[in-house]
Amino acid sequence: MIKKFLDLGYQPLANKYLKSYKKLSIKKKELYRLTVGFDTKTKLVSLFNKIPDRIMFDSNYPYKSSMSKTMTDSFKKLSIKIKKRFNPKLFLEIGSNDGALIKNFNKNQVICVEPCSNLAQITKRKGYLTYNNYWDLNLSNKIKNRFNSVDVIYSANTLTHINDLNQVFKSISNLLTQDGILIIEDPSFLECIKKLSYDQFYNEHIYIFSALSVTKLILQFNLELFDIEKLDTHGGSLRYYIKRINNNKIQIKDTVSKQISTELKFGLANFLTYKKFGISVKKSKNDLIQIFKKLKDKNKKIIGYGATAKACTVLNYCKIDNEMIDYFVDTTPDKSNRFMPGKSIKIKRYKKTLLDNVDYIYLGAWNFKNEIFKKEKQFIKRGGKFITHVPFPKII
Ligand code: TMP
Repeated sequence: MIKKFLDLGYQPLANKYLKSYKKLSIKKKELYRLTVGFDTKTKLVSLFNKIPDRIMFDSNYPYKSSMSKTMTDSFKKLSIKIKKRFNPKLFLEIGSNDGALIKNFNKNQVICVEPCSNLAQITKRKGYLTYNNYWDLNLSNKIKNRFNSVDVIYSANTLTHINDLNQVFKSISNLLTQDGILIIEDPSFLECIKKLSYDQFYNEHIYIFSALSVTKLILQFNLELFDIEKLDTHGGSLRYYIKRINNNKIQIKDTVSKQISTELKFGLANFLTYKKFGISVKKSKNDLIQIFKKLKDKNKKIIGYGATAKACTVLNYCKIDNEMIDYFVDTTPDKSNRFMPGKSIKIKRYKKTLLDNVDYIYLGAWNFKNEIFKKEKQFIKRGGKFITHVPFPKII
């Protein structure tokens, strides 16, 4: 039974940055109710309103993994680890984005799968075999007909975006060698709850995984976890290492039982924990609004840093608009001169001078706080301050 614990009101599609400001309408289905539930049986956290893939992932997908040094560094380290630990003859990435990970691999060892054509073109141009498709059984069979099987399948921040998880894992199991390894990484619900980062929820994040829910989910496909790594990316993620249950060559590390026991101790198996999270989110909203109001009463100039999908949830939930935030700065070219969906706040292509005369910066990309603080030493030195809502609304 799926029980609701969070209602983030009416929200636009988060990664659909607008060319000009437009008031969005519920009737035209430009806004949808963002509510989140917990399945008491499977322990899986999911959105109630699921938007079709084809509306979300098209030829204009703006998010590029290579835009952040934190992500490219994390992928580089991972590629070294994968080669050393598993030495794959054939490596497949589901959701290869702009090739931030696969660029660390040999071209004849890699298969990219990427539904957004603007991104698929990037890896194709660089000479990597790229299927510009959604991940499903048809594609899995097509690749199987050509290559027979794949030894390592990897997917970061992608599987949780796909509605039909049964098909996802069936298609993976169909293609993986008997000794094959599946590695997935996604934001951890435990970190989300600890950090009160309710902005992990937007239309694309249909599911937020925990070790508890992943264990149950993959069991149906005779798969099991054998290792878990904690990552700082995306505000705290887990990297799950998965094998077939009948593969006895690989030992199960105690990282798995440790993570599960931490999650159980935290109450992730009980609905009450989720209900309390929902109550705390409401308080976080009110506190953040108060911070903005107080600063605007003092005529302070506030801008946003990192026009993230996460910020879109916060702005629309807390009803923060261009009266509060003058503009957002972001390094992503495809986001420049666009508007934050649902709120008339312009996004400007990042340059240092856009921080001149700014008193406060709202951290839309709070997950890159350290990287941003390092970059903006000058702003901090001259007395500039940051606003964040993570783990609770405050000025830094
Ligand atoms: P994400 O939190 O969804 O990964 O998105 C991060 C966004 O923040 C992305 O649009 C790039 C932007 N960004 C900057 O503009 N400057 C920076 O220094 C960093 C780290 C990110």
